[in-house]
Amino acid sequence: MRVPFIAGNWKMNLTHLEAMDFLVDLESRFENKNGCEIAVCPPFTSIRSVKTLLDEKKIEASLGAQNMFYEQSGAYTGEISPLMLKALGVEYVILGHSERRQYFYETNGLVNQKIKSSIANGIKPILCIGETLDIRERGEAEDFVLGQLKECLDGIDQDAAALLTIAYEPIWAIGTGKTATVQDANGMCSRIRGKLSKLYKDKTAEEIRIQYGGSVKPSNISELMHASDIDGALVGGASLKVDDFLDIINY
Ligand code: PGA
Repeated sequence: MRVPFIAGNWKMNLTHLEAMDFLVDLESRFENKNGCEIAVCPPFTSIRSVKTLLDEKKIEASLGAQNMFYEQSGAYTGEISPLMLKALGVEYVILGHSERRQYFYETNGLVNQKIKSSIANGIKPILCIGETLDIRERGEAEDFVLGQLKECLDGIDQDAAALLTIAYEPIWAIGTGKTATVQDANGMCSRIRGKLSKLYKDKTAEEIRIQYGGSVKPSNISELMHASDIDGALVGGASLKVDDFLDIINY
């Protein structure tokens, strides 16, 4: 049985002071009726404060980062290493988000190096894959997404794969208010699982959680979560509003 996993991707939002206010508010109303695993992924500058509050307030949520570099240390101005994240109590890291691919030119090869490094350093990757509207309209979404998956997982063995979460995020649905239909989202998640079972043993493929991401909100979370191959959500905009985030968690 896969435990549903809902993660909030705050992107480049909230100062560490605003993040602390957010968590105080979240704690005052926190409930998790469905027993999902919850994670919050703040910007680097808020990770320390968020961790302190998660611990102090006993909010049962994991801590995630939104990116990392693959080296442990060195002359890489502006980068953050897996060791630094680990020392802060970070459990997950979002890798290959479409915004990193689009604005910072991250390739599948780079994402692959980051996945290997995160696993080697004890941080569980949330690998994002997803197609543009153009690719979908050309009827090439499945090939594209499964190609991304294959390249990003090149050389990742069975044991490492067991630590993965995959987030299927069609780019045209991110931040646009347009959600993929449940049929389309579930269909792609099921093809992703099919591909995983070609790359790994069936048991591993069955255990890897596949999230959907792209304009997830209180009004659409329930039907998404009831689809057979969607095991959770990577939530951007709606994870920044305490009410919406709680409604999503308690779908
Ligand atoms: P959104 O973002 O929920 O604001 O569409 C999702 C994501 O990019 O992870």
